Amino acid sequence: MSKTILSRQIWIVDFGSQYTQLITRKTRELGFSSEIITPKRTSELLKEGHKPKAFVLSGGPSSVSLDGKDYSDIFESGCPVLGICYGMQLMARHFGGSVEKGVQGEYGHAQVHGAEGFKVPGIGGGTEINVWMSHFDHVATVPDDFNVILKSQNQLNAAIKHNTKPLVGLQFHPEVEHTEHGKEILNYFYVEVSHLRQDWSSLEMLNEAKNLVKEVGDTKVLCAFSGGVDSLVAATLAHDILGDNLYCFFVDNGLLRPQDYTHIRTLVESTNLNIEIIDARKEFLGKLVGLGDPEDKRKKIGNTFIETFEQKVHEFEENQGITFTHLLQGTLYPDVIESISPHNDNGMSVTIKSHHNVGGLPERMKLKLLEPLRYLFKDEVRKLGEELNLKHEWVYRHPFPGPGIGIRVLGSLSEPAIEKVQKSDQILFEELHAQHLYESIWQAFTVLLPVNTVGVKGDARAYEQVICLRLVNSTDGMTATWSDVPREFLTKVSNRITNEVAGVTRVVYDITSKPPGTIEWE
Ligand code: XMP
Repeated sequence: MSKTILSRQIWIVDFGSQYTQLITRKTRELGFSSEIITPKRTSELLKEGHKPKAFVLSGGPSSVSLDGKDYSDIFESGCPVLGICYGMQLMARHFGGSVEKGVQGEYGHAQVHGAEGFKVPGIGGGTEINVWMSHFDHVATVPDDFNVILKSQNQLNAAIKHNTKPLVGLQFHPEVEHTEHGKEILNYFYVEVSHLRQDWSSLEMLNEAKNLVKEVGDTKVLCAFSGGVDSLVAATLAHDILGDNLYCFFVDNGLLRPQDYTHIRTLVESTNLNIEIIDARKEFLGKLVGLGDPEDKRKKIGNTFIETFEQKVHEFEENQGITFTHLLQGTLYPDVIESISPHNDNGMSVTIKSHHNVGGLPERMKLKLLEPLRYLFKDEVRKLGEELNLKHEWVYRHPFPGPGIGIRVLGSLSEPAIEKVQKSDQILFEELHAQHLYESIWQAFTVLLPVNTVGVKGDARAYEQVICLRLVNSTDGMTATWSDVPREFLTKVSNRITNEVAGVTRVVYDITSKPPGTIEWE
């Protein structure tokens, strides 16, 4: 758990809701510093005499009638509290109300309206709004000194508020998009109920990230640099502090797209970062050619990255007579949030994506981790990039996975197959820009399918491979929908690929959402 929690105005106590990260994001978008915290850590900090300016209790899958947990310390802390779903039920129970099992009709989409004498808070009027509920339990008896301020269409208590104390409970989720005016309702709690002042801006984020870098002192720092948004922002802000003590190593694994080579050359030429390009194409291809199983490929690419990187760094240290002490990484908040189970007090494990690219390096190389973006979401990192005056197109690049084209050639890897993806990807990229679609799409790429189909090229029969176009919209890659792009765009890309990429006769478009599909094909 971070030290920074003590500097956050709002502690978002996570009881296991799938939307907890969203509460944090919306809160920060409103300009208030906030961080996620476990119930156990909350109790410890309260015992030590620390407290926030306000609490938000997330929803959660538990039922207050079953788990009997006591969170009196939060309610007796004197801090403003917003309880959402399960959080509202904890609040009601604590102050003497009762909670009952609900009915199916109150789950999911619902309408709520102001109870007698009340309006929907935060929106200056308005009588009825659509909201998202995700809990069957509801507050049946409202505790003394609380008013019901919102009712659902079935006359259930949708929101309660204490007469005099800054305590509010919501049966629905203000943080999800399905809830109309959700952000205004959150803002109402922060401003009108809790009297907080905004304290979260790009400048605050930048200062905090830079302070993390300052802690390493006068020492040599190594960055596994991919040129993607996260490593570029991390390296740029670290460079402001560390100057030439920062060394960025870019590994060319031969699985990159033409646009990645152009990008890295541009960064070498037009930034003052100290970027060392490691040409490891032969090492990678030597180990990868012929591999077909997705997991084998991912593992081999990951291990080869670690071996190559370690060896080159070792050579570099020997030749230059320097020793690196830290590894700079662009790790983001969603990767490090401690996942919380309210039922297991010791269950605070660190969740790291299984495909974390440089995961094995620090242990092997005995480096300390430096992660200045570890408290930030992707959209916040982009704002930091802008604050650092990085070019717009660098900051808004599509994500590109560490294993690169290795997981976009389906089945057996070979040099000609990698080249087909490189060429078709370049065409897609050029057309996205030409037709001004690049920024309206979250991620776009091509995949080579391991099947041959019959076609006609010129007057001859062709029996060649298939390229699949994958274009998705998403906010964080956790869920995604396929992009509904103009037909003329698809026609142009398809024509160009079949004409310009040797060995490809057919182009198909992937219309699968995630879930059930993933964004990548392997
Ligand atoms: P999936 O395929 O899991 O992808 O739906 C979600 C997002 O993660 C990216 N991705 C990766 N990124 N190393 C990465 O850095 C990886 O091994 C990796 N695998 C998938 C993917 O491109 C998408 O943006």
